[in-house]
Amino acid sequence: MTTTDTATSLRDAFEAAGQGHVFRHIDRLTPSEREAFLAQLAEVDLALVARLAKPTAEGKHAGGAIAPAPYFPLGGDTTDARAAGEALLRAGKVAAFTVAGGQGTRLGWKGPKGTYPATCVTGRPLFRVFAEQIAAAERRYGCAIPWYIMTSPLNDDDTRAFFRDNNWFGRNPADTFLFPQGTMPSVTFDGKLMLETPGSLAVNPDGHGGAIRALHASGALEDMRARGIEQMSYFQVDNPLARIADPVFLGLHAGSGGNARSSGEMSSKMVAKRDAAEKVGVFCDVGGKTGVVEYSDMPAELTNAVDAQGRLRFNAGSIAIHAISVAFLERLASGGGEDGSAGGFALPFHRAKKKVPYWCDAHGKTVEPSEPNATKFEAFIFDALALASRSLVMETSRMEEFAPIKNASGDDSPASSHQIQSNRHGAWLEKFGVKIPRRPNGDVDARIEILAETALEADDLADASLPREIKAGEEIVL
Ligand code: UTP
Repeated sequence: MTTTDTATSLRDAFEAAGQGHVFRHIDRLTPSEREAFLAQLAEVDLALVARLAKPTAEGKHAGGAIAPAPYFPLGGDTTDARAAGEALLRAGKVAAFTVAGGQGTRLGWKGPKGTYPATCVTGRPLFRVFAEQIAAAERRYGCAIPWYIMTSPLNDDDTRAFFRDNNWFGRNPADTFLFPQGTMPSVTFDGKLMLETPGSLAVNPDGHGGAIRALHASGALEDMRARGIEQMSYFQVDNPLARIADPVFLGLHAGSGGNARSSGEMSSKMVAKRDAAEKVGVFCDVGGKTGVVEYSDMPAELTNAVDAQGRLRFNAGSIAIHAISVAFLERLASGGGEDGSAGGFALPFHRAKKKVPYWCDAHGKTVEPSEPNATKFEAFIFDALALASRSLVMETSRMEEFAPIKNASGDDSPASSHQIQSNRHGAWLEKFGVKIPRRPNGDVDARIEILAETALEADDLADASLPREIKAGEEIVL
């Protein structure tokens, strides 16, 4: 087909779908802009957009259908699990997987979030924090841990440049596999596609659930197979305390100790919710399957429900840390499509009202709205839990593993993350008799950073040379 034929058939299809307005500036585009725009339009699944744009009550959960998900509690016996997880690591069967394709709009950092200076004393960027942790685990278990990183078409170039500029953090570039996820068009509240410029649609990355399609399409799954990888340690780019390739979690996930919930397909870590109002997804049993119910989808009477001891019944907050098997991902990636699914990859899309920059004809420029003006569609990785035969949830300590950086200030901000980092490292040192200054609320009153090469967990400090005391306000790196 010639470009003119392509343009005509695309225009017909878009007009038939009520989206013909996106062609309104086509005549002023240069030939190469026009070609790029037509290629972008050709990727749009108009039927899917039409279906998703219809407001429905989908996603809301009826009160009776869900129960709290059981979980492996903090303090349970993990001796066997640790041995099993360590064996997997030593055999080189574990990869690290970071989802780093998000836009990080709330943080407002110009650049991929993984480049954000995250640690409380040295300001190490998130990608460096993870690279050092992976390197320390590789040394400990005498194995290679290949690292897969999902970017998006919007930040892939900048992410690659950051790795190149930092000499791949000393890693063999062949063991770090970056690949972009897909995108979805944003729509106005009346379901219309939006232009970001005269020759491009406003699109957003298709959510961390886009990982399943992208792992397959990029060849990452094939690469894992070729390397003999069986399990992936999944974490988000904005949590500097994520414990990568935790042997205890991997061992429980892979079925050590005969835990009835583990299938080796997909497992999750949780922390006890701070209080009923905390806005995190909660692990629930939904129709006999483990799943995460989003805060906004949870009926208030369940969010606030307490047991006979006054504890929250639904207290298993998701911290977006999973273990996922390659075989499970391969099964999902080859699965048939469902209505509203991510193009044959079986994860539904969720809607969110967001501020999306759009092309304003009256102003002749791209405008940043001050209020949400559009619906974005995103798939969520935790929806894959429902597709696993069984699924284990393991409790962990918030202070040990969860200090996300999402907002510029307040909760889940750099400041709150720094405090949690210092609290964790202060507690590690106290275990070995170091005197740590604390404020009346229990927070550590110093900045303490412990590098991955020094310790991956508290007990690694047993043989380290430690100070006797840290003074209030002191900054220390070990
Ligand atoms: P968030 O839901 O916090 O979104 O992502 P975000 O895009 O980083 O930030 P905001 O909402 O714009 O402020 C949680 C994790 O999922 C990844 C993010 O990079 C982060 O690690 N993610 C999110 C993707 O990889 N792709 C996406 O499409 C969305």
